[in-house]
Formats: sequence, C-alpha cells, structure tokens
Amino acid sequence: MKALVLGGGGREHALVRALSLDPGVTGLHCAPGNPGTSDLAENHVINMLDGLAVTELAARIGAELVVIGPEAPLMAGVPDALRSRGIPVFGPDREAARLEGSKAFAKEVMEAAGVPTAMARVCRSPGQVAEALDAFGPPYVVKDDGLAAGKGVVVTEDRAAAERHARECGRVVIEEYLDGPELSLFVLCDGIHAVALSPAQDFKRAYDGDKGPNTGGMGAYAPLPWTPPGLVDEVMRSIVGPTLSTMAQRGRSYQGLLYVGLALTSGGPRVVEFNARFGDPEAQVVLDRLATPIGALLQAADTGGLGGITSLDWRTGAAVAVVIAAENYPADPVKGDPITGLDAAEAVDGAYVLHAGTAWSGVRDLKSNGGRVLNVIGTGDTLARARERAYEAAGRIELRGSFYRTDIAEKAAAETG
Ligand code: AMP
Ligand code: GLY
Repeated sequence: MKALVLGGGGREHALVRALSLDPGVTGLHCAPGNPGTSDLAENHVINMLDGLAVTELAARIGAELVVIGPEAPLMAGVPDALRSRGIPVFGPDREAARLEGSKAFAKEVMEAAGVPTAMARVCRSPGQVAEALDAFGPPYVVKDDGLAAGKGVVVTEDRAAAERHARECGRVVIEEYLDGPELSLFVLCDGIHAVALSPAQDFKRAYDGDKGPNTGGMGAYAPLPWTPPGLVDEVMRSIVGPTLSTMAQRGRSYQGLLYVGLALTSGGPRVVEFNARFGDPEAQVVLDRLATPIGALLQAADTGGLGGITSLDWRTGAAVAVVIAAENYPADPVKGDPITGLDAAEAVDGAYVLHAGTAWSGVRDLKSNGGRVLNVIGTGDTLARARERAYEAAGRIELRGSFYRTDIAEKAAAETG
C-alpha cells in the first residue's frame, strides 16, 4: 500500500517510522513532513489545511491511505474532501472531529452517552464564570471552548488567574477538578468497532515536578505498570462504546483515532478530554511498542474492518520519550539555532531521535524551528533501562537555551524497576 502522512511533528515522524516498518507499505509520503521524515518518506511542500490540495497530492501519488496527524486538518475537513473522492483516510470527518474541536460539544455528547466525566458549565459572561467558579471551588479548571492545541486550559488555585483566562477566551467551559493520575488511551475506531492501543502517560507541565505552564506534552512512557487490571476493558465498555453509539445515532460516525484522556479518580476512570488524533508525544512511545503492522489497521478504520481484529501484538519492554524544547517554550520559543549531537544520541544503544520542530539549515545541517524541537526515545527491557537510555541520548544533543524535563517516567520506573 502507498501511504501519505499529513503533518510535520514528532507524532508524524513516529507514524512514518511505524509505516516504514510495515512490510505491506510499499510507498511512503509525508506532507509537509520534517527533516526526520525525509529519511524515510518523500516529503511534499503543501498547505495541509487545503482539502483540495491534499486530495490532488493523494491522487497524484496513488495514496491508498492518508493518515492525518494533527488536529487542524481534521477541523478543516480534509478527511471529508478525501472521502468524497474515494481516497481511504485515517481521521474523522469534520463534524465528528468536533469531539476535540469543541469542549462544549464533547461534554454534551458525554452527557447524552452517560460517560463519566467532570461536571462542567459552558459560560459566556463574567457573571456565569463567577457563578461556576463558586459552584466548583478551587482548584479552578477553565477551558477555552475552541481549539487551542492543548494550551487553552488553565488549572489554578488562583481565582484572579482563572477569571483572567475566562475573560481572554470569551466562551469557556468551567469544570470540577478531577483528582488522580492521568493517562492517555488511544482507540482505533471504524464508526462501530473499536480497538484499544496500550495506555501511555504524558507530562503536560513544562518543568520538573509538574511545575510551570501547560504545554503540548514534555515526555511520555508506555506501558503503564500502575494501571489496575481490567482498566482498558472498563474504559471501552463505559466510555468508548457509548460515545461511538451516540455519535453514530447523530449521523456523525466516528472513524479514526479517539484519544481518551482519563483521570483515575477514587470514583473510577473519568474523561478529562477527547482528542480526535494521536497524542503527541504519547504516540511516539505507543507506536514504538506496537508490533502489529500498522498500515492495514489504520486502513480498516476507514473501511469498517476493525471488527475482525481481536488483539494486537506488542513488543516486550518499555519506551520513554523525552522532549527537547526550545528556550522560552511554550510562551515564545526561540527558533533558528543550530542543533548538533544527533548522531551521538542515536549511537546510544536502544535510543533514537524523532524530529518535531526542526528545519534544514543549508544542505545537511539542522536548526530549531518550533517549540518542541526533538523527541528522544529510549527503549529497554524495563522502564528504568528505557529511561536511562533516553536521558543518556538526550544529554548528547546540543541546542543553545534548550531544556527538557528530567523526571519523565521517574516515579513509575522507581516503583517497578
Ligand atoms: P485538556 O486540554 O482538556 O486535556 O486539558 C489539559 C490538561 O489540563 C489535562 O491534561 C489535565 O492535566 C488538566 N485538566 C483538564 N481538565 C481537568 C479537570 N477537570 N481536572 C483536573 N485537571 C484537568
Ligand atoms: N500530549 C497531549 C496531546 O497530544 O494533546
């Protein structure tokens, strides 16, 4: 099969890598891609939000599968355009992707489906905001209703900061605070059937000890040794099944990746958020461990063929991703600085590097070109070993002013070895 991956971040590099390891994939393209994907796929310069341009590219290269990486092309209806031309696509249509695109829509679907989540109120005025903050109490959770790439959420004890964020956003969703560890579960969906991948954990705050601002994600690991037995089955039964049925009843069949962000509260798993695409950087570790060839799996989400898949194969051991972020990420990342040390990092046994915010500088040199610049992946028999390798490799990369968290998977590795 010939496949085209849309996007140019670390998640897309991981998708391209996974597809490149699938013997069923005979041609691999990426648009726009990044310097990392260009080693494995042909990169194409394109506006990935332009459904017509993407459809033309897919038709020209004979793509039999288009995998949409980030949320923006989903919200722009690129899958709709591809499907209308009969090109198989992994990613929900625009209306179904509103599960991510509108927090208020997601809450409404969850309510209709009886899915456990935080109590929430949609607020449009300062008066409604004040009432909701009073009703739920601190810590305050204030979410921009629109798409904000994981950065539109403020969780704070500071009432003034909560009110300020609400004012800046306009329409917001204010929620009850969910206590308990968080995890991300990726579920492949074909509208009716669903297949869960292995859970992963992400680290959203910028600095060690979960300090600092929320980011797109500073690191991840999988598998999670601490999840209670039966958790995935319970989530599939109480959350994913009812959500897919409710979406189908509304004529918005959900085909693609349903990212279930969960908090394990004392009252059981509850949904923190839905996203309509793989998490970044969680995908980097989950895809590392998936041994089942991925191409046919992603294609089956489009053709309604996931019902025939009873289980997936996983590599033993663990994977840890450490994000190297640019100086001043997430507020105003510095770009354009030289990056060196990638070869030395990849010389670490069991480690490799996935590109995110990088660009060519001259013919073969690299420079930083985004907030999250690189993902360093460490693998090993144990979480501790994977972690050690990720950090050994991360320490070999040089980018002026860059930083990374030093506590990714630390607690889980200490508990399990
Ligand atoms: P979201 O974009 O909805 O995933 O929110 C980003 C992050 O904010 C989540 O990963 C959580 O860490 C935190 N968060 C969001 N909603 C809640 C909630 N109701 N209670 C506690 N933390 C939350
Ligand atoms: N890592 C969180 C996200 O992709 O939204």
